[in-house]
Amino acid sequence: MSDPNLAKRAAAYAAADLVASGMRIGLGSGSTFAFVVERLGQRVKDGLRVAGVATSNTTAELAQRAGVPLLELDAVDGLDLAIDGADEIDPQKHLIKGGGGAHVRERLVAAAAREMVVVVDASKLVPVLGAKFLLPVEVLPLGWTHTARRIAATGCTPVRRERAGTPFVTDNGNFVLDCRYPGIPDPAGLQRWLDGIVGVVDHGLFVGMAGRVVVADAQGRVQVMP
Ligand code: A5P
Repeated sequence: MSDPNLAKRAAAYAAADLVASGMRIGLGSGSTFAFVVERLGQRVKDGLRVAGVATSNTTAELAQRAGVPLLELDAVDGLDLAIDGADEIDPQKHLIKGGGGAHVRERLVAAAAREMVVVVDASKLVPVLGAKFLLPVEVLPLGWTHTARRIAATGCTPVRRERAGTPFVTDNGNFVLDCRYPGIPDPAGLQRWLDGIVGVVDHGLFVGMAGRVVVADAQGRVQVMP
């Protein structure tokens, strides 16, 4: 049977190999990004000097175990590169992220970087965002039902994320509403609406933030989209 992680690992290793010695990098989150950490750990053992800012507690733990030194976001003026996965990517390189609930820190870290490198397997490429994947929106727990109604007015059905029957709580102590849209043909327009809603902390739309996209197919063939 073929290795289901072949594409993820191939793309992740190629992205990790874009890192040069002396760089400060943003460390994304998710199952694809875990392979970036794996490769960075190998390269650190081989002498790569690098320090990373983690976008989730899970990634921080992985990086520590792999021997990748960590920094706090507020301890750096900026980052050379942020590397991260995505749940969906459209032809304009706009993204949906946040399947793991780390999108608020992921957006902060990507915004601090000179370039965001996105690493995906080919299944993440879609013609239009949001037709399959729900858009995660992080909201303050206080008044979340009111916030959900305001978000619903943008044309979606929001459902509070749960794990084992209890509300999912992000690393920031907030709730996530997974929002079903019929499709998001105008991500920039939706972003403007969401940014104006009281109670929204941030959302998983990354509009115009992606730089190079490293994508691998099921045979492990890697392509870098500029
Ligand atoms: C984490 O919140 C997400 O933004 C992930 O980066 C994204 O969901 C991709 O994850 P996978 O690589 O596990 O698909």
